[in-house]
Amino acid sequence: MIRDLHQVSEETLQQAGRMLTEVFSPLGSDEWNTEAQGLEEVRACCDPSYVCLGIWEQDELAGWGGARPMYHRVTWELHPLVITRHLQGRGLGEKLLYSIEQEVLRLGGQGIVLGTDDENGRTNLNELNPALQPLELLLPRLENPGNHPYSFYQRQGYRIVGIIPNTTGSGIHDILMWKAIVD
Ligand SMILES: CC(C)(COP(=O)(O)OP(=O)(O)OC[C@H]1O[C@@H](n2cnc3c(N)ncnc32)[C@H](O)[C@@H]1OP(=O)(O)O)[C@@H](O)C(=O)NCCC(=O)NCCS
Repeated sequence: MIRDLHQVSEETLQQAGRMLTEVFSPLGSDEWNTEAQGLEEVRACCDPSYVCLGIWEQDELAGWGGARPMYHRVTWELHPLVITRHLQGRGLGEKLLYSIEQEVLRLGGQGIVLGTDDENGRTNLNELNPALQPLELLLPRLENPGNHPYSFYQRQGYRIVGIIPNTTGSGIHDILMWKAIVD
């Protein structure tokens, strides 16, 4: 079941915040190290002008995600998208992302952009040296030995439109992806 996180209890918002910490901290992200930071992010994503949806499996909050308008509300940014660890790989991420896309479309959006960091070398980007290589040479050689989520997004129709090298430090690269949600 999909529900709007703008309309859920404080306890559910706290669960959503904890999920960010529990899922992303072991992946090497230092963005949401504490429950307070996680909760702050959920609240920010529940801005009235943003899309923020959760997905439930039975009675359990299984994941959540959001999108916020950019570029005159024509293109929106997906941020974040998370499925709790023990329910990953069951198609829930795909369902949640589709619902977010449909909601963005309903609000007049035509495309979605996202940035997905390679913070801990799950791709071979470091060997490819993105600071020096042009994108057209780099992309055909990009590999994903560590199951980085860029492959998940590619399966959902997102295309890599850029790589930002060394975003938050040397060797941490952001993979920018985009999808048109209108024909
Ligand atoms: C990435 C994430 C949202 C995907 O959700 P999910 O429910 O696990 O994925 P699904 O089961 O819906 O997967 C759909 C398809 O994508 C594939 N897939 C999912 N995660 C993948 C990954 N990391 N690498 C490669 N393929 C992946 C699945 O195998 C499935 O393929 P299929 O259709 O051929 O069976 C989820 O795994 C997650 O929260 N990961 C940790 C946090 C994260 O990385 N968030 C994204 C940050 S930008």
